[in-house]
Amino acid sequence: MKTLLVTGGCGFIGSNFVRLLCASGAWRVVNLDKLTYAGNLENLSGIVQEHHRFVKGDIADRSLVDRLLEEEKPWAIVNFAAESHVDRSILDSSPFLQTNIAGVQTLLESVRRYPVDRFLHISTDEVYGDKVGQEPADEKSPLIPSSPYAASKAAADLLCLSYRRTYGLPILITRSSNNYGPYQFPEKLIPLMIRNAMSGMKLPVYGDGMQMRDWLYVDDNCRAILAVLENGTPGSVYNIGTETERSNLEVVQSICQILSEIAGPDVETLKHTIESVVDRPGHDRRYAISTAKLRTEIDWAPTVSFDTGLSKTVRWYLQNEDWVARVTSGEYRKYYESVYVQAWGQSA
Ligand code: NAD
Ligand code: TYD
Repeated sequence: MKTLLVTGGCGFIGSNFVRLLCASGAWRVVNLDKLTYAGNLENLSGIVQEHHRFVKGDIADRSLVDRLLEEEKPWAIVNFAAESHVDRSILDSSPFLQTNIAGVQTLLESVRRYPVDRFLHISTDEVYGDKVGQEPADEKSPLIPSSPYAASKAAADLLCLSYRRTYGLPILITRSSNNYGPYQFPEKLIPLMIRNAMSGMKLPVYGDGMQMRDWLYVDDNCRAILAVLENGTPGSVYNIGTETERSNLEVVQSICQILSEIAGPDVETLKHTIESVVDRPGHDRRYAISTAKLRTEIDWAPTVSFDTGLSKTVRWYLQNEDWVARVTSGEYRKYYESVYVQAWGQSA
């Protein structure tokens, strides 16, 4: 059984990845997570505990990371840990620079001292910037990030690649499109709209709602990450996505439709709660990536259609109302007000 150090394994994608690993029986997971507002041990309830060691801590804590690498001698590191929400990065970019850049540099330095066979850094298609009117980005496309979040992720990608060239570290990078599915914190588009619709709140669409995103079901991303970890070529970057696009408005309308079918409220009444609100500053109109490299080199393809994935997701949120209530009970309200009531904290 190989040991993996997974960072950020209590967040949305990380917890789905840890679930996949623990279910396979082939991996032992050491999970380093700071448990920020987005991290929650409850996201890992029911996993086989003997295959999982949780360590609460910061990826930017050098002595802790050194100690873990020395003790556990993991075969590989998969770094999910990040501040992940564009809107929060607009309100305050400091934690983004600290975790997404300084944290990654700490991990890389520790790996120089305590080598591993693979260092897989989880990145995003947002590093390529706005692709409106352009060809989808491939892995060699320029990095033109728009938000402080995307800029911090691009900086980390470049740092990782520099450590590959300079010190020969076994770096792999995945850049996926927008994920959705169970355990996503309800600050991101899909779970926020499901939660609001379930509670009779307005459905706040930024600007005209015609921004395009490629929605990837989280299980498909986790399978791709594992495949890249096992079969990717060190030094390589892999885009992960479905190569299909939908406008935000279409996504929100689909959520209304599915909620109506599953839970009964009238679909037209739900759609009337869709409201155009002040646009996100610097909002990218379109993300689009080519995934040809992953499909040919790694033989991966998505298996969950958007309709199926969205239905599964809506059902999960309906069945886990307590989880939703708990994760939105703390600072969420203050955050929500600074984006949706005060319009980007302008009065702050
Ligand atoms: P998330 O916000 O749900 O979870 C992040 C996790 O990292 C949380 O458990 C948090 O506690 C932990 N964390 C934050 N700072 C930390 C630190 N300093 N030390 C240790 N742990 C820390 O994020 P997510 O949506 O699961 O995203 C995971 C990764 O995937 C991120 O790197 C993100 O940039 C990337 N990504 C996300 C998406 C998406 O659609 N969600 C798309 C592409 C790429
Ligand atoms: P989000 O889930 O924050 O992901 P990202 O910004 O990383 O793509 O947002 C997805 C899209 O949905 C993005 O175009 C912004 C838009 N959006 C809204 O229109 N309203 C909302 O309340 C949120 C959270 C997002």
